[in-house]
Amino acid sequence: MSKDRGQWSSRIGFIFAAAGSAIGLGNVWRFPYMAGQNGGAAFVFTYLICVMVIGLPVMLAELSLGRSTTRNPVGAIEAIKGNSLWRGVGILGVVTGVAILSYYAVIAGWTVGYMVSTAIGKELDFNAFVASPGTVIFYQALFMLLTILVVSGGVQGGIERWAKILMPLLLLLLVVLIIRSVTLKGSLAGIEFYLKPDFSKLDFNVVLQALGQAFFSLSLGMGLMITYGSYLSKEDNMVSAGLQVALFDTLIAIMAGFVIFPALFAVGENPAQGPGLVFVVLPKIFKAMPLGNFFGAAFFLLLAVAALTSTISLLEVPVAYFVDEKKWTRTKAVWILGLVTFLVGIPSALSLGASSIFTQINFSLIHQKGLLSIMDFIWGNFSLALGAFLLSIFVGWIWGGSKALAELRAGTGHFTWQGEGWLLIIKFICPIVIAIILLNLFL
Ligand code: PHE
Repeated sequence: MSKDRGQWSSRIGFIFAAAGSAIGLGNVWRFPYMAGQNGGAAFVFTYLICVMVIGLPVMLAELSLGRSTTRNPVGAIEAIKGNSLWRGVGILGVVTGVAILSYYAVIAGWTVGYMVSTAIGKELDFNAFVASPGTVIFYQALFMLLTILVVSGGVQGGIERWAKILMPLLLLLLVVLIIRSVTLKGSLAGIEFYLKPDFSKLDFNVVLQALGQAFFSLSLGMGLMITYGSYLSKEDNMVSAGLQVALFDTLIAIMAGFVIFPALFAVGENPAQGPGLVFVVLPKIFKAMPLGNFFGAAFFLLLAVAALTSTISLLEVPVAYFVDEKKWTRTKAVWILGLVTFLVGIPSALSLGASSIFTQINFSLIHQKGLLSIMDFIWGNFSLALGAFLLSIFVGWIWGGSKALAELRAGTGHFTWQGEGWLLIIKFICPIVIAIILLNLFL
């Protein structure tokens, strides 16, 4: 094994790193705005089903493929199927990693901007903030630089250490914010919007958004869990590790909703306002609490760190590919890919008012406007769902479900009938359900 690869120091190290990848802006920024745009509780409910029925099985499929081959997504597929068309699934994952990271770093940059301004007690107008090109690109560049520095430190030194300390703190602060939010006057309407489903709001589009959100939030469909699984040791219980990551991730998303929606209704904001939602609502919560500037700055700091453990995982996939397959040094791979990703992200950074071309552009198939939202749909929803569809076929049928199952069972005490159930889901339910939902986009 080349020294530029690596292994987790322990199973706990893996859980923190995988949870660190999963937990990020997807939970705190994307989940609330998706739920707000797609009818609230009906979306939340569909999302939870997608996580349990589709997400978790796909996660186990990716982990088993990764550990069995100890490779990046492209190498893993090649190790099983040689130089075939299936390699394309791995390549799609590598490209998707770069594409998601390109705009993810933009939003992560906003959190840093909000952290700074909250700390110094300056109130930001969201629309004015995101429309100033110098500011957004500065913070985007800063965030990419941080990501590059951590990823060049390698798997253990960089990724594990950060995740271990700061994730628990985020959880704690969320609890504080939930208490403040639900005790605001008028918050009850928000809780109702969030928890009382109105299924008449459900259509194929909502289901597609919920499914895409499940993949996005769990970091699935682009081979991230193949890559992280490849650093696991054979003695580890992968099934329980995967389960814990999924539970933890879902918990944080649900908690973030409990922060946003009660407050949102209490201050009379529009739930369907899109990507700016949490940046508009959160400062209002901080304003309504004692030591608001302190809590606000601390929250944006922790959110930035949660985003960082996700951006490093997004960069790690293409880096692992170039290190394993193209024999680049880690440092070279990290800097080149980081720079390319930054450049690709600039148009997204400018698409909330700074440049009218990127702001006005619209994609009528999915009713999205603005380059950042379009990128988020294409890569964060569609490409991940397509990747998960292909990966479940690959693991269930091409590699062979029984080999995957044997890999999952190694290091796992009981995975007997549950394993058979998993096999059924990965071979039939996942491909069929994802295909139906995706095809509907074009009908
Ligand atoms: N899961 C991360 C989040 O919720 C985003 C991500 C997607 C990270 C895909 C890696 C791979 O913020």
